[in-house]
Amino acid sequence: MQDIIIETIDAEYTYQNHDYPVMAVDGVSMSVRQGEFIVVLGRNGSGKSTFARLLNALITPDSGKVIVLGMDSAKEENTWEIRKNVGMIFQNPDNQIVGTTVVEDVAFGPENLGVPPAEIKKRVVQALRDVGIYALMERAPHMLSGGQKQKVAIAGVLAMKPSCIILDESTSMLDPIGRKEVLDAIVQLNKKENLTVIHITHHMDEACLADRVIVVENGRIVSQGTPSEVFSDVEKIEGLGLDVPQVTRLMYNLRKAGLVNETGIITVDQAAERLGRLLG
Ligand SMILES: Nc1ncnc2c1ncn2[C@@H]1O[C@H](COP(=O)(O)OP(=O)(O)O)[C@@H](O)[C@H]1O
Ligand SMILES: [Mg+2]
Repeated sequence: MQDIIIETIDAEYTYQNHDYPVMAVDGVSMSVRQGEFIVVLGRNGSGKSTFARLLNALITPDSGKVIVLGMDSAKEENTWEIRKNVGMIFQNPDNQIVGTTVVEDVAFGPENLGVPPAEIKKRVVQALRDVGIYALMERAPHMLSGGQKQKVAIAGVLAMKPSCIILDESTSMLDPIGRKEVLDAIVQLNKKENLTVIHITHHMDEACLADRVIVVENGRIVSQGTPSEVFSDVEKIEGLGLDVPQVTRLMYNLRKAGLVNETGIITVDQAAERLGRLLG
């Protein structure tokens, strides 16, 4: 069995800076294994970002626990080590630029960690290679495309040698090309480097690439499983205000019409194969 690197036990978090408190994470217990690719789905305000912040100790649970690599996030002496190991990429690529060149930008994280200069150089080169932007090294980040900027942000996190990266809707502001670039990069990192990835997204095609999909609503996990398992309950997912992949919807309609009987078809290839048989 693969190692569990993150575990939450009945974690709760309530925002108090309001006229009334908002319970954003309401008793979440889950674990993440090394090398997993997890997609988190849920409508706006369902608690995804708050949950992500709990996982990298930007906030700590009011009750319950978050354990990262055996470290309790509630203990202040663990905060740095947890943040170093669980890197976050955010939505807006422009807000994440800190350097005037790509190299400078990517070196920023390890510099802050006090990594020796020779080692920083090695890590920066490796990180740029890993996300496929080595050739952009001397460029000014703010002149790059959205997808390239997000790859710079990912490289910056990789240079800190994390066990896990969390992308909080990091593809949502990108055009289709940029989105594909970033997605390809994270899939590669996951498959080749065995990097653990937690990807928060609204794109169902991206969810289909996950090992496991977790659906949240009102701060709770309401569904989880393989993409095929989760999307096979079309009514539930749509009832939560989310989409299912278009082919899943098509096969669902055909099933309701009594033409096919499988559930959980999520790819065009699966659907084509099934429809091919149906049409003889
Ligand atoms: N800084 C904050 N202060 C107060 N309430 C917040 C804050 N951030 C988020 N919330 C509230 O917490 C709930 C969950 O938000 P969030 O975790 O951002 O959800 P999501 O990322 O799924 O959109 C929402 O009701 C939101 O309004
Ligand atoms: Mg969010």
